[in-house]
Amino acid sequence: MLGSLYRAQWLMLVCLFAAAHAFDLASSGYASLTHYDLPSNYVASCGCVGRSTFYPTAALNRYAYGSNTSFGPSCGSCFELRLVSTPLALPPPTPGTNEPWGDGIYYTPQQVSSGSTPNLVVKIIDLCPGVGGPWCNATRLENGTVQGNSLGFDVHFDLAWPAKGISKGFFPGDHDYGAWNVTYDAVSCERWAGWKDKAALGSDWDQQSSACCPNNPVPSGQDQTCPPYYDTLAPTRAVPPNTSNVLSKGKSNAATSMLTSNVRIYLATAIALLSAALLCVSAATFTFV
Ligand SMILES: *[C@@H]1O[C@H](CO)[C@@H](O)[C@H](O)[C@H]1NC(C)=O
Ligand SMILES: *[C@@H]1O[C@H](CO)[C@@H](O)[C@H](O)[C@H]1NC(C)=O
Ligand SMILES: *[C@@H]1O[C@H](CO)[C@@H](O)[C@H](O)[C@H]1NC(C)=O
Ligand SMILES: *[C@@H]1O[C@H](CO)[C@@H](O)[C@H](O)[C@H]1NC(C)=O
Ligand SMILES: *[C@@H]1O[C@H](CO)[C@@H](O)[C@H](O)[C@H]1NC(C)=O
Repeated sequence: MLGSLYRAQWLMLVCLFAAAHAFDLASSGYASLTHYDLPSNYVASCGCVGRSTFYPTAALNRYAYGSNTSFGPSCGSCFELRLVSTPLALPPPTPGTNEPWGDGIYYTPQQVSSGSTPNLVVKIIDLCPGVGGPWCNATRLENGTVQGNSLGFDVHFDLAWPAKGISKGFFPGDHDYGAWNVTYDAVSCERWAGWKDKAALGSDWDQQSSACCPNNPVPSGQDQTCPPYYDTLAPTRAVPPNTSNVLSKGKSNAATSMLTSNVRIYLATAIALLSAALLCVSAATFTFV
């Protein structure tokens, strides 16, 4: 009896822990960075206005993003990213040594912090899903341990690049290194290049409450302005703030129709998540009895 009581408490703790840590992002640290194609003017997962893509934007891995689908707590947040190194390529060998050949780029901490190496401020407008890896699959295991991506990072940024607002030569080197080790710091979106363009802020009018793209979330990495999308479908529903940008009213875009057709998938996911939560609770109750 005592044993099963402990087991029930343990199970409940695990369930609570998993729930409480669905969203977990430190305000600064090291992360991996890749890049992906996001069409210009596209309304991505957060529902941010298409015009946001005229400036530097990125997707975050779902663990740091805080939701499996649609919008989540990281939406709209701004981060300064600074390139550090190319972990998939070794550094050039020191002359006169037998070190293995490499053409990787490795900046010193002094170079990185001086601001002289490539850096930019991005706004998070998209979710990088990726259950299978290698980049966006970091997750918290049932025992509470966080397991990172293929380079061991919990946080992964996928930069929308090439993009209007980022130089073609942003990445140094004569070839694509694929993945970079970067430092990230949560910053005020007043430092984002799109800040002065009112038409690049907020969410697309057509998306209404299925979007959440605050103009300037608190730069803590833990801003809770946007609930995870699936919480808005839960019985005790969370209500996202109305972030509609009136300037985007009536502008149709590719993502709007996609979002509508995706609602069914979102609903299915939400129901699956809810069932998992119920299962968790009933498992705990059952063990208790
Ligand atoms: C997202 O889905 C995966 C399984 O597909 C699950 O392990 C994880 O807990 C979910 N994440 C959140 C934040 O609900
Ligand atoms: C990223 O760079 C930091 C600073 O040089 C280093 O401590 C860390 O090990 C690197 N991580 C990877 C996976 O390359
Ligand atoms: C993510 O995928 C990579 C390989 O692609 C793997 O090394 C890593 O362990 C995976 N992480 C998780 C949490 O599944
Ligand atoms: C959690 O589980 C993983 C994978 O099974 C294991 O590698 C890790 O050591 C465990 N951590 C703790 C604290 O038990
Ligand atoms: C959002 O705010 C606008 C006014 O800015 C209003 O017209 C619209 O109905 C609101 N949408 C929702 C879903 O409340």
